[in-house]
Amino acid sequence: MNINKILLSSLFVLALPVMAEPMPGEMAAQTCAACHGTQGKLVNEAFPALAGMPKAQFVQAMTDFKSGKRASTLMIKVAEGFTPEEYEAMADYFAAQKLD
Ligand code: HEC
Repeated sequence: MNINKILLSSLFVLALPVMAEPMPGEMAAQTCAACHGTQGKLVNEAFPALAGMPKAQFVQAMTDFKSGKRASTLMIKVAEGFTPEEYEAMADYFAAQKLD
């Protein structure tokens, strides 16, 4: 086995635990950009801005969209695509963005 193969296989082993983790918030947030703007900064009536939204409020909104407790046209489908862990990660990301 040459050094490249050893390096490659150890990289693969290192990558495995990472792949089992929930999607990082920033990556998941790319899914939202089409409607909510990059970094959650689009502001218009139909698509609420996500930047700066408090974490608890964000997680509650996603949870309620998923369960159908909160009525939505589009967000129920979006919310179904993510786990509660991913809601938390996205909440951290959006809460850290400034609406300016
Ligand atoms: C296809 C367009 C679309 C996409 C993609 C989308 N949203 Fe939405 N979002 C909406 C609309 C429209 C609403 C208003 C509620 C409704 O009618 O569904 C909304 C509302 C919300 C709200 C509630 C905002 C508030 O002021 O209470 C949150 C939170 C939210 N979206 C998060 C997300 C996240 C996180 C993603 C990405 C994972 C995402 N959205 C992707 C269209 C979209």
